[in-house]
Amino acid sequence: MNYAILRSTVLLILSSAGVCYGAGVITVDLLRGITGEIVTFTTSVKPAAEPFMALTWSFNGITNVITSTNVDVVGQGYENRITLDKATGSLVLKNVTEKDIGEYVLIIIPFGAGQLQGNVKLEVLTPVSKPSMSCPTQNLIEGKTSLNLTCDAHGAESRVWMKDGQPLVPGPGFSFHNDNRVLSISPVDRRDTGEFLCNVSNHFSFNTAKCNLKVYYGPDMPVIDQMPTGAELEESVFLSCSADSLPKATYLWKFRLTTRKGPTYYIHEMENWHTGKYTCVAYNAITGQEASAFHTLRDSSTPITGSMSMVFCTVLTTLALRLV
Ligand SMILES: *[C@@H]1O[C@H](CO)[C@@H](O)[C@H](O)[C@H]1NC(C)=O
Ligand SMILES: *[C@@H]1O[C@H](CO)[C@@H](O)[C@H](O)[C@H]1NC(C)=O
Ligand SMILES: *[C@@H]1O[C@H](CO)[C@@H](O)[C@H](O)[C@H]1NC(C)=O
Repeated sequence: MNYAILRSTVLLILSSAGVCYGAGVITVDLLRGITGEIVTFTTSVKPAAEPFMALTWSFNGITNVITSTNVDVVGQGYENRITLDKATGSLVLKNVTEKDIGEYVLIIIPFGAGQLQGNVKLEVLTPVSKPSMSCPTQNLIEGKTSLNLTCDAHGAESRVWMKDGQPLVPGPGFSFHNDNRVLSISPVDRRDTGEFLCNVSNHFSFNTAKCNLKVYYGPDMPVIDQMPTGAELEESVFLSCSADSLPKATYLWKFRLTTRKGPTYYIHEMENWHTGKYTCVAYNAITGQEASAFHTLRDSSTPITGSMSMVFCTVLTTLALRLV
C-alpha cells in the first residue's frame, strides 16, 4: 500500500471516527535535542492490550514520519532513524539535525475508542563548533610587532578572550573588534608571552582554541658586576655583564682596542695597565638590538678621594708659592 492511499484511508477513518482534538497525549509541548543525538517523543498512552487500528506521526503537517496500521510506512529520510513503540506510540528519533526542527503530530486511532492526538515542537541545538584561530608564525618583537588573533566558530553567540586563564580586558595594547572576533595587540609586550585562549559559546555549549605567544625582547641596559668590588694590583678580578633579553643576549667586552666575547671578563693578576674603562655590549640576534654599559676598573689601594686631595694639595701649594 502506498503512503498516499494509506493516508487517505487513515484520514477517512479519522473523519468517520469523529475527531476529538485537544487530547494531548505527548508529555511535553517542546523537546530539545542536540545535533547528532537522539530525541524521544514520549506519550502518556497506557500500553494497549491490542495494537491500535492506526497510528501516524507526521512532521510539519505534511511529511509522513511513520504510519502504522497492519503495515508500517516509514517516510523518506526516516529509514533507520526511528524506533516506534507500537504499544504507546512513543517515538525515538536518532541523529537529529537542524532539518528536524518543527512540529510533530501524533494521531492514534484505537479500536472502538476515540482518537488520541498529541503535538510537540522539536528544537535542535547545535553545539558551537571548534573555533578556527591561526597563530602567528613570524617572530614577535616587543614594541615592534602588532598582531591580530581572529577566532570564530559556527553557532557562536559570544566570544571571550583569556590570557593564562584570566579574562582579557581592553587596555593598553589590547583592543577587541568585530564583536570580539578579533583581538588586536598593538604592539606586543614581553608580558604578552603566554597562552591566549578564545572561548566561543552559545547558551548550552562552548568550545575553545588557543595560541601560545612568545614575545622576543631586549637586551635591556646591561648591569656590570665586579668581583671583588675593591681589587688591588696583583689580585684577580672578575667582571660580569648581564642584560635581560629573550632569547639570551650574546656579550662582547671592549677594553682599549681589544674585544673579548662572552658575559665575563677575567683578569688573573691586575696590573696598572688593566685599569680603565670597560664596555660591555649585549646583543640579541632576533630583535637585532644591542645595548651597552661601561665600568671603570681601578686599583682600590689608591682611592679616588686620595687622588682628588692630591690635586687639591697641588693647587694649594701653587697658591702658597704665589703668595710667597
Ligand atoms: C547523521 O546525519 C548526518 C546528516 O544528515 C549524516 O551525515 C551522518 O552520517 C548521520 N550519522 C549517523 C550516525 O547516522
Ligand atoms: C588588525 O585589525 C585591525 C582592525 O580590523 C586593523 O586596523 C589592523 O590593521 C590589523 N592589524 C594587523 C597587524 O593586521
Ligand atoms: C567558556 O565559556 C563558557 C560559557 O560562559 C563557560 O561555561 C566555560 O567554563 C568557559 N570555558 C573556559 C575553558 O574558559
